[in-house]
Amino acid sequence: MRSFKTDFPLDQSRCHLETGPIVLVGSQWQGERNLMVMGWHMMLGFAPAHFGCLITAGNHSQRLVRESRECTINVPTLDLIDAVVGVGNSDGDDIDKFEAFGLTPVAGDAVSAPLVAECYASFECRLADDSQIDRHELFIWEIVKAHVDTSIELPRTLHYRGHGRFMIAGDEIDRSKDFRIQNL
Ligand SMILES: Cc1cc2nc3c(=O)[nH]c(=O)nc-3n(C[C@H](O)[C@H](O)[C@H](O)COP(=O)(O)O)c2cc1C
Repeated sequence: MRSFKTDFPLDQSRCHLETGPIVLVGSQWQGERNLMVMGWHMMLGFAPAHFGCLITAGNHSQRLVRESRECTINVPTLDLIDAVVGVGNSDGDDIDKFEAFGLTPVAGDAVSAPLVAECYASFECRLADDSQIDRHELFIWEIVKAHVDTSIELPRTLHYRGHGRFMIAGDEIDRSKDFRIQNL
């Protein structure tokens, strides 16, 4: 089979592996709240629902989640693209990003970090493992409460491709009849 693949810069690998969805990380510590955009994350287990993500030290959010050992993970859709770009391109030590980008903070049930009302799915997280923070800036969370608007069947989530461009989800193909039960 002929391949059209060519050598590709290693530092651009992320453009094809950052499947997303892009999420908004909510944080709070001692009365200060913040939001950041995040693309580098992955699920690490079913139950407990462990979730790993990279929050770099240059971001104001890192201090808030390190101190509080809590965060929320909120999944935005295409209608929130302006807010997503705004949140990802500003610093929370300068502004209140909820006010600046018209997002509504909602109190969680299990954590003090704010949820984002406009996102169709929000997850409350507590730090499960801090052993990789100093080495890789990798936070491993346990999702302790999930809030999802299940009336939205095919959420138009945003998937970052690098260089300011996003892919938008929305199509679905159902191959469940061909799946082994343990993979469903
Ligand atoms: C599309 C996109 C994806 C991003 N992904 C990450 C990420 O995975 N981890 C991270 O630490 N920063 C990521 N950032 C950068 C932060 O979102 C950005 O620096 C933000 O302004 C940090 O806000 P803060 O300083 O108020 O915490 C991303 C930014 C954008 C626009």
